[in-house]
Amino acid sequence: MVFPIPISNDIFWIGVNDRRTCLFENLWPIERGVSYNSYLIRGKVNVLIDTVEASKSDEFFDKISYLIGPGGKLDYLVINHLEPDHSGAIRSVTTRYPEIRIVGNSKTFRILEQFYHIQDRLVAVDESLSLDAGERRLQFFLTPMLHWPETMMTFDPVSGILFSGDGFGSFGALEGGLFDDEVNLSLYESEIRRYYSNIVGKYWNPLQKAVKSLEHTDIRIIAPTHGPVWRKNPSRIIDQYLKWSRFEADMGAVVIYGSMYGHTEKMADYMARILCEEGIRDLRVYDASKTHLSYIMSDLFLYRGVLLGSSAYNGGPYPPVEALMSKILNTGIRNRLLGIFGSASWGGGGVKAIEQFAEKIEWEVVGTPVQAKGAATREDYAQCAVMAQNMARKLREDQQ
Ligand code: FEO
Repeated sequence: MVFPIPISNDIFWIGVNDRRTCLFENLWPIERGVSYNSYLIRGKVNVLIDTVEASKSDEFFDKISYLIGPGGKLDYLVINHLEPDHSGAIRSVTTRYPEIRIVGNSKTFRILEQFYHIQDRLVAVDESLSLDAGERRLQFFLTPMLHWPETMMTFDPVSGILFSGDGFGSFGALEGGLFDDEVNLSLYESEIRRYYSNIVGKYWNPLQKAVKSLEHTDIRIIAPTHGPVWRKNPSRIIDQYLKWSRFEADMGAVVIYGSMYGHTEKMADYMARILCEEGIRDLRVYDASKTHLSYIMSDLFLYRGVLLGSSAYNGGPYPPVEALMSKILNTGIRNRLLGIFGSASWGGGGVKAIEQFAEKIEWEVVGTPVQAKGAATREDYAQCAVMAQNMARKLREDQQ
């Protein structure tokens, strides 16, 4: 991916891969890396669509120079999104290309000033104000809170390319292939979902509004700021994002536990076995202390059943479970079935906290919460079995 990659006759991917950063937004593990996709429209008017994260700007500028020559001129920089993974090179762009003008909407310019103290060379656009870009007029779709206030998408009617910003993006660096027809998409599925669930998932309503606003647009290619470019089947990624935005889920269950000494863990393992005996084949079991919550969130977008267990800790829930519940509440995942369990040695607090969480998130609680005193007894396991059987029955009923 050292050189620009043509997307159409005069439009090029000039993004970069980042396999060095450990935490995206200093929060989300990216073991498989991430790409920062930028694009260049070359013609009578040269237009840059977004930039890249600052630490990768050398490679980015090499690609620009390759396309327009060392003394070439850039006319416009369109900012679809100002988060620094895409805006980090803006200052370097304006220094290297002093004639460039910055295209955005009123909210873009507010944040541009806050982040980079840039107040000049601005060209305001919105849905009624297109941009003369030589051989084409670029159109703009404002998509506020997908996932920042200023986010917008840019459409080129000549090529049918929608530059969609973070919308329809994915974690995972590009591994040779850029286009959906060049890669084995099954290798990207989990990182697409993890990206959606952790970065975009909270903004399901803005996403649906954005898709609605695009429904009469002849989109032939979707070029997001992260991950593959969708040219063979752009509707695939739109449909996938829409499904998640509706919180539609498959018949399966995620069993999650926070356990200090193993008592709650054994209850989790036991219930996973019962679910399996009841015919549930799609099952994931997570130790919340070990697995980063971004992976658990991803599976919570996939499966309808959730068994959540916690030991007590200082009168409350086990901290990793507390962090997960906070993330779920913040994201507002809907329409899940919840079984509650845990263990406590004296005052408790874990199970009670999950019960309070269930009320806030408004998930349907399955069965009666089970709280063992220390190690679960045979009676406790019997109650766990009933809860898991009820969960399996409800999951099966959903499929009918
Ligand atoms: Fe890829 Fe919201 O930045």
